[in-house]
Amino acid sequence: MPEYSIGSTSGRGDVFKDKDKPASMRESNITAAKAVADSVRTSLGPKGMDKMIQSGNGDVTITNDGATILNQMKVLHPAAKMLVELSKAQDIEAGDGTTSVVVIAGSLLDAASNLLAKGIHPMQISESFQSAALKSCEILQGISQPVDLSNKEALMKSAITSLNSKVVSQYSSLLAPIAVDAVMKVIDPAVATNVDLNDVKIIQQLGGTIEDTELVDGLVFSKRSAGSGGPSKSEKAKIGLIQFCLSPPKTDMDNQVVVSDYSQMDRVLREERAYLLNLVKQIKKAGCNVLLIQKSILRDALSDLALHFLNKMKIMVIKDIERDDVEFVCKSINCKPIASIDHFLPENLASAELVEEVVVGTSKVVKVTGAANPGKTVSVLVRGTSKLVLDEAERSIHDALCVIRCLVKERALIAGGGAPEIEVACRLMEYSRTLTGVEAYCFRAFAEAMEVIPSTLAENAGLNPIAVVTELRNRHVQGEKAAGINVRKGAITNILDENVVQPLLVSTSAIQLAAETVQSMLKIDDILQVAAAGGSKVVFLPAPVNYSLVVIIVKMYLQQ
Ligand SMILES: Nc1ncnc2c1ncn2[C@@H]1O[C@H](COP(=O)(O)OP(=O)(O)OP(=O)(O)O)[C@@H](O)[C@H]1O
Ligand SMILES: [Mg+2]
Repeated sequence: MPEYSIGSTSGRGDVFKDKDKPASMRESNITAAKAVADSVRTSLGPKGMDKMIQSGNGDVTITNDGATILNQMKVLHPAAKMLVELSKAQDIEAGDGTTSVVVIAGSLLDAASNLLAKGIHPMQISESFQSAALKSCEILQGISQPVDLSNKEALMKSAITSLNSKVVSQYSSLLAPIAVDAVMKVIDPAVATNVDLNDVKIIQQLGGTIEDTELVDGLVFSKRSAGSGGPSKSEKAKIGLIQFCLSPPKTDMDNQVVVSDYSQMDRVLREERAYLLNLVKQIKKAGCNVLLIQKSILRDALSDLALHFLNKMKIMVIKDIERDDVEFVCKSINCKPIASIDHFLPENLASAELVEEVVVGTSKVVKVTGAANPGKTVSVLVRGTSKLVLDEAERSIHDALCVIRCLVKERALIAGGGAPEIEVACRLMEYSRTLTGVEAYCFRAFAEAMEVIPSTLAENAGLNPIAVVTELRNRHVQGEKAAGINVRKGAITNILDENVVQPLLVSTSAIQLAAETVQSMLKIDDILQVAAAGGSKVVFLPAPVNYSLVVIIVKMYLQQ
């Protein structure tokens, strides 16, 4: 309802202030965003539940990963979409903590809505929250422990912590060393400040169990070699990667060639044969014995006849290499993609000790090992009984890789299990006593909002959240900085003894990003709808136009 203030105390006289609209807008935004945060709350922590997501076309995904859940959820409210974006941002920045960031944002919004109800201006709240977030990061930095990349045990512990909360948690002790080794192989630990995860290729292969997952130092193609009569093993391989097609050429435009008699037909076939044989001979002449062929959408990348020639000449063929994989393949074996037969020269080929087709479970894959000048890349061959398990295993390994990447970016670890959040809450409370006025109020609200992580971890583990958070607070006030929730024992213990550690970057980025999102949400006071591009347009006509004439013209135009 609009508010009419007559003779207001502000001294501005009679003004019409439509105060209710921004307030109700803000409230509806906060409610929508909180609903999203609540939907992923139950997935937090090692005892969190998983979600089964069914898409419109019937595909099913089972996951615990916050970013995946939110990404697949059909969210309509624009404010709720901000939380989906928030989770994506955390996924890019840190890779892990995508559930925590949304839960923290939900809790901060709750705190903000209470402060708004008390009549505090949204700008004051958002500014105070921002400085509280900065202060929180300082506190976390203060309690973090530096970690050296040569300390493999510490890296392993943090990878295991991130894997513990996944569907594949029972295999965490097996997948963690794979993640650590994979990252260590693609970087130079002495100088690295970041990790390009494109250098770690995760390949899914149906069959077997996750226990059979392995790290392959080299290249793996999740397909068998083409053709049935050709070689399936090649020692001292000379590998060429081609981007042109080994099939009869087509005209650039859509033409039709009419063949009217047998002699013409014979000639077409002869020409085709000669053309392909010439290509294959040139390939053989360059000394190539393993040929990788990029997938083509224009025509067959490899015709049956060309394959027949290649098999005869004992050249092993792996076809349908995805365009996106070309860079990885080239980097792994140090070869150059060849775009035309004229450039199929020995210097553009790569050498490897062995290219071999091996049986993995019920199907075959091709492994390239012992490359002469290998680039810094690795492949992880993930095995699993079903597509659902494979997908989730891949996502979990990706999270573990991201955790190690965080440690490369910022070499510091903190305890997990709700310990950092409670420490931040206690220290912020303490700090708020040095502040005055509204800021102190907002800092206290921020501190209380941080308790959502331990409280949710306890709730999901079937413990009493109020009792747990109260005890945690007591322990931290007494100086036990590493006291956290031991979900296995259902008690509060020194969480470092349980080896539950996480990168500092995951927590700091979660707090910062959540605070930023809350800040921008508080600043919104209206949602405006605009016509979609290409939708209905409003046309203003000059006043004296005869409208019936316009209608007739439009009708005539439509009938044409
Ligand atoms: N063994 C453990 N005991 C107690 N707490 C744990 C343990 N393992 C992980 N945690 C805590 O669980 C939280 C992480 O849970 P989870 O991995 O489900 O969510 P996330 O990392 O925020 O999101 P996601 O992994 O989906 O990107 C962290 O606060 C971490 O400290
Ligand atoms: Mg996690």
